[in-house]
Amino acid sequence: MQHDLEDIRAARFAELPIRCDNAEPGIDEVDDWRDWTALETTPDQKRIEEYLRHSKLSGRSVLHVGVGNSSLAERMAGRTGRIVGTTIARNEATHGASLGIRNYDVEMHNKYSGRPLQHAARFDFIVDNNPTTFCCCLHHLMTMMDFYEQSLTQNGQILTDRAGLGWVVSTPGANQRWKFSFDDLAFVAGKVNLQAFAMDENVIALARQAPPKIKKTGIVPFVRSIVPFVRSVAHRARRLLGRLRPA
Ligand SMILES: C[S@@+](CC[C@H](N)C(=O)[O-])C[C@H]1O[C@@H](n2cnc3c(N)ncnc32)[C@H](O)[C@@H]1O
Repeated sequence: MQHDLEDIRAARFAELPIRCDNAEPGIDEVDDWRDWTALETTPDQKRIEEYLRHSKLSGRSVLHVGVGNSSLAERMAGRTGRIVGTTIARNEATHGASLGIRNYDVEMHNKYSGRPLQHAARFDFIVDNNPTTFCCCLHHLMTMMDFYEQSLTQNGQILTDRAGLGWVVSTPGANQRWKFSFDDLAFVAGKVNLQAFAMDENVIALARQAPPKIKKTGIVPFVRSIVPFVRSVAHRARRLLGRLRPA
C-alpha cells in the first residue's frame, strides 16, 4: 500500500525520520539483550499469552513475532493449529526448532523488511509485544503494518501490550519517540484499515472489527472481581461498628 509518509509524520510523529539509511531495517538491541533464548518471558508477553489462553484457539493459527525463549509455543501449541515464530536472533531460532513441537516452525525474519515469510499464510492471531521498539523510520514502520495487515485473516487480531509498545531499545542514542501510546498505534493502524481496541488494561488488539470480549477464568481474575464487593462489605461493617460503639 502507498502511504503518504510526510502526512503521517506531520500528523503526530515530528521526531521520527521518514527514511533511514540502514542496510537492514530496524535497530538492533545491545549485546546483552539481543538473544532472549535464556531470558525469562517479559511481563508484557505473559499478559498476551494470558489473553490468548482465554481466547478460542482450537484450529486457529498464530504468528509470533519475536519468539524469544519460545514460551508462547510451548504453552499454546497443544491448543492451537499452526504456530509460526519469527526472530532475528539465530540462537532463538535454533532453540525454537530444537523443542521439536509438531505444529511450531521458527524462521529468521525481519518484520520491517517487507520480505515474505518462508511459512507465509494468513494468521488468526499475530502476536508482537514490541512492534515499534526496534523501529528505525516511518517507511519501515508502515512496511511492517502492511505486512501484518496482509498476513491477517478477516476476523484476525494483532495483539500487543501497552508496556511493550512503550519500550525502546537500550542502544545509546535510541530515538525515544518509538515509545508509542495506544493513540499512536491506533493512528498508524488506521492507515492500513485496522482499528485498535483496548481488550483490558494492557492488551491491545488491532482488527477489522471489534473482537469478542474474553472471559477470564481462574483464581486471580476471580479474586480481582470480588475485591470491590469485599471492600464495600468491609466499609459498611466499619460504619455499623462505629454506630454500635458506646459514646
Ligand atoms: C526483547 S526480546 C522479547 C522476546 C519475547 N517476545 C518476550 O517478550 O519475552 C525481542 C524479540 O524481538 C525480536 N526482534 C527484534 N527486532 C526484530 C525485527 N526487526 N524483526 C523481527 N523480530 C525482531 C528479537 O529477535 C527477539 O526475539
